[in-house]
Amino acid sequence: MTAPLLTVEAVSKSFGGLNVIRDLTFKVERGETLGLIGPNGAGKTTAFNMISGVFIPDSGLVTFEGRDITRMASRRRIKLGIARSFQNVRLMQHLTVWENLLVGQHVRASGLIDLLTPFRLIPRHRWRQEAIAALDEMGLAAYADAMVGELPYGIRKRIDLVRATLAGASLLMLDEPAAGLNPVETAALTSHLALLKQRGITLLIVEHDMQFVDTICDHVVVLNFGQKIAEGTLAQVQRDALVRAAYLGTEQAA
Ligand SMILES: Nc1ncnc2c1ncn2[C@@H]1O[C@H](COP(=O)(O)OP(=O)(O)OP(=O)(O)O)[C@@H](O)[C@H]1O
Ligand SMILES: [Mg+2]
Repeated sequence: MTAPLLTVEAVSKSFGGLNVIRDLTFKVERGETLGLIGPNGAGKTTAFNMISGVFIPDSGLVTFEGRDITRMASRRRIKLGIARSFQNVRLMQHLTVWENLLVGQHVRASGLIDLLTPFRLIPRHRWRQEAIAALDEMGLAAYADAMVGELPYGIRKRIDLVRATLAGASLLMLDEPAAGLNPVETAALTSHLALLKQRGITLLIVEHDMQFVDTICDHVVVLNFGQKIAEGTLAQVQRDALVRAAYLGTEQAA
């Protein structure tokens, strides 16, 4: 059996006196799509932030490919192959699509030569070719020269996915990717993610849309008040009494 791609082991985090994550343990196997679900304020984004390096846990261990990354800087985690999208799309509105992708690629610049390439030479640079090819693969090449701020939200969301995966990520973390999308946009996002899955990319997804979770996730972990209260297939956890109680009175009733 191969080792899990990512492990979170007995991780805790508090802000002020508030225990936001309590003794959280779960793992993500290579190639699987894991859903992290739970009511508002359960700690899902905070858990993401500790995996991507925005926050350092107070205690516990995070490993990626068998290596301790608990205290590693987020920039180094990106280079290891951990990519994420944020709850709100973080693209630069006043730049074109391919310029945004270029900024993302800069993060993984390996040497001084890449960083020192003058901007005016970039159109012929291999990064532009790579960016266009990545857009083309997802059927988005027509948007390469469009200003991000002028594009519909669903397209921006998928451009953000291209940005996140362009760096050759093996783990892609998505925080509420379907939020704010209409059914047509959600379907386009679903096929985009299916392609990434086919390519062997491991996905960790926080999402409130249970139909979307059902379509895309192999397993789910349920958080409530910072603790894992259940895990298994979506159908299994939906039958769980603790999960039902946690969602009771919220709109996202499982
Ligand atoms: N930087 C911070 N400082 C203080 N409290 C925080 C911070 N980040 C998160 N919290 C608190 O931690 C708890 C969990 O927040 P988190 O954003 O992780 O929840 P979530 O599960 O992602 O919720 P949602 O579904 O609404 O996005 C909340 O009570 C939130 O107010
Ligand atoms: Mg959140």
